[in-house]
Amino acid sequence: MILKIKKQKPSFKNVELGDIEKIASIEANCHISPWTKKNFLDSMSSENTFQVLKNDELIIGYYVASFAADECELLNITIKRDSQGKGFGKIALDHLINYCLKRETLNLFLEVRSSNKNAILLYENKGFNEVGIRPNYYKTSNGKEDAILMALSL
Ligand SMILES: CC(C)(COP(=O)(O)OP(=O)(O)OC[C@H]1O[C@@H](n2cnc3c(N)ncnc32)[C@H](O)[C@@H]1OP(=O)(O)O)[C@@H](O)C(=O)NCCC(=O)NCCS
Repeated sequence: MILKIKKQKPSFKNVELGDIEKIASIEANCHISPWTKKNFLDSMSSENTFQVLKNDELIIGYYVASFAADECELLNITIKRDSQGKGFGKIALDHLINYCLKRETLNLFLEVRSSNKNAILLYENKGFNEVGIRPNYYKTSNGKEDAILMALSL
């Protein structure tokens, strides 16, 4: 007998309190200056949009964005290490862009470390343009690096 295993598609849901432990552990494993559990809890209790990406029932990523008037700022987007490079970051960004379009947002902004080439490629491929630089904005293990400000017109 041939058993067909049905692979589930990745899905999004609003964050819940029970997700925070897992999210904080993914965050600690993926960022040089990770958000703390408190940062995520604060985001949950604010007006921020906080979406969790699940695949095969497991949390594999999340994004946090804030909206003000007709603008949106992407504050955090993370895919857990062993799921990176498989298209999930693109799916998460598309999800946010679609939500922005529904809300009639005109501009989507973000900041990225100048050394984060994979993220910069992802944003450029989605049509983001560099609109500014904050010199020496981020700490690194041995100094500082610039923040690149990017924007997408919707
Ligand atoms: C940045 C991040 C969200 C991208 O998510 P991802 O699932 O790894 O990216 P995807 O597989 O969807 O790839 C999307 C695009 O990003 C670029 N990219 C991603 N991983 C890459 C890699 N290992 N090498 C080269 N390009 C890569 C490519 O342009 C790719 O498009 P393509 O597949 O059409 O070539 C993810 O790597 C991550 O969480 N990194 C750590 C946290 C972080 O840096 N967050 C962003 C802070 S601004």
